[in-house]
Formats: sequence, structure tokens, C-alpha cells
Amino acid sequence: MKLLFATQNKHKAKELDLLVPDAISILSLNDIGCTAEIAETGNSFEENAKIKADWVRKKYGLDCFADDSGLEIEALGGAPGIYSARYGGPERDMEKNIQKVWDKLQGHSNTRAWFRTVFYLHLEGKEYVFRGRVEGSIVFEKRGENGFGYDPIFVPKGYRETFAELGDTIKNKIGHRALATQSLLKVLSR
Ligand code: IMP
Repeated sequence: MKLLFATQNKHKAKELDLLVPDAISILSLNDIGCTAEIAETGNSFEENAKIKADWVRKKYGLDCFADDSGLEIEALGGAPGIYSARYGGPERDMEKNIQKVWDKLQGHSNTRAWFRTVFYLHLEGKEYVFRGRVEGSIVFEKRGENGFGYDPIFVPKGYRETFAELGDTIKNKIGHRALATQSLLKVLSR
């Protein structure tokens, strides 16, 4: 079975590919030659995931799923949230995004944070929403080489290492996308 993941983020597509059984091959928008920027104009992960999935479904007539995800920090009232990719500015520079998190957290002792993912799936005329969340905390130095985005400054609950130090094996067990994928797979295997 081929399943289209409405993303151009190669890291996410690779992460997903490792999470699904070999019988399912994950295609990304790059694989179908779609380079369009789909505007994420929603006010929540749910709305943005639906906007992307609906757009691809309408343009290509294909079953697909889209995700929206990000980091939410308790002391910052849930920021960066839906603005995770461009928190430090429109150029989507992770150095700037991370620096802004550190700047905003100055003076806060509460470093609690979590990643959230929402998947929106179009499958055989039906629509589904799946969610995943992983709890943790922010550290004030970048540690580790794996992963992407905020992984070098996020320590999942129960661990001392960041996601970027822990690598794919752990992230694919406890990560937000892994949890949402488990729910997605239940529907796909029905
Ligand atoms: P989007 O879901 O593609 O809009 O991207 C959301 C942004 O959230 C990404 O650019 C990353 O900065 C961040 N993000 C989402 N998932 C992860 C993750 O698993 N690790 C680190 N950062 C993430």
C-alpha cells in the first residue's frame, strides 16, 4: 500500500517511513512533484493539518494525510505552538527559533514543554484525526546531532538526554509522531 504524506519536510517523511510496516510505503509531496507552499492559515494544529490534507486531496484527488506539529512551552502560554517553524522570524531559521525560546524563558524556572502532532487523514471518502503528545522539558544548551527542529533542546520525560542525543530508536517509540502514527495504523489495518 502507498500512502501519501502531505509534507515536504524530508525529516518527517523519513521518520514516518521508519514508523510504518514495510508493507506501507510513505510518499511525500516531493515524490509526486508537488513543490507548492500550502499556506498554514489555521489557528490550531488541527486546522492546519486539515487545510494541508484537504488541499492535496482536492488538487490531486488522492487519499493522503497531513500533519501539523510543534513545541508547546508551559511558561510561555503554549508558545511557540503553531508558530514553531517560524518563531524566530519568517526565514524559519532553527538557530533563531531556539535562541528566541531561550530568551523568552529567561527568568522562568518552569521549563516544562511538550511536542504535539495532529494528523488529518483522507481515506476512502472518510476523514480521521489522530493526535500524539510527548512531555518533557527545555534545556539551555544544544545537545546531540540527530533529529531536527527543537530536538537538541528537548529532553523527554524520564530521560536525561535530548531527543537529538537519543536518536530515532527512542524517538520512534515515545515521540509525538510515533504515537499519532500508532492510531493511524489501527485505521489503515482495519
Ligand atoms: P510543521 O509541522 O511542518 O509546521 O513544523 C512545525 C515545526 O515544529 C518544525 O519546523 C519544527 O521546528 C517543530 N517540530 C515539529 N516536530 C518536531 C520534532 O519532532 N522535533 C523537533 N522539532 C519539531
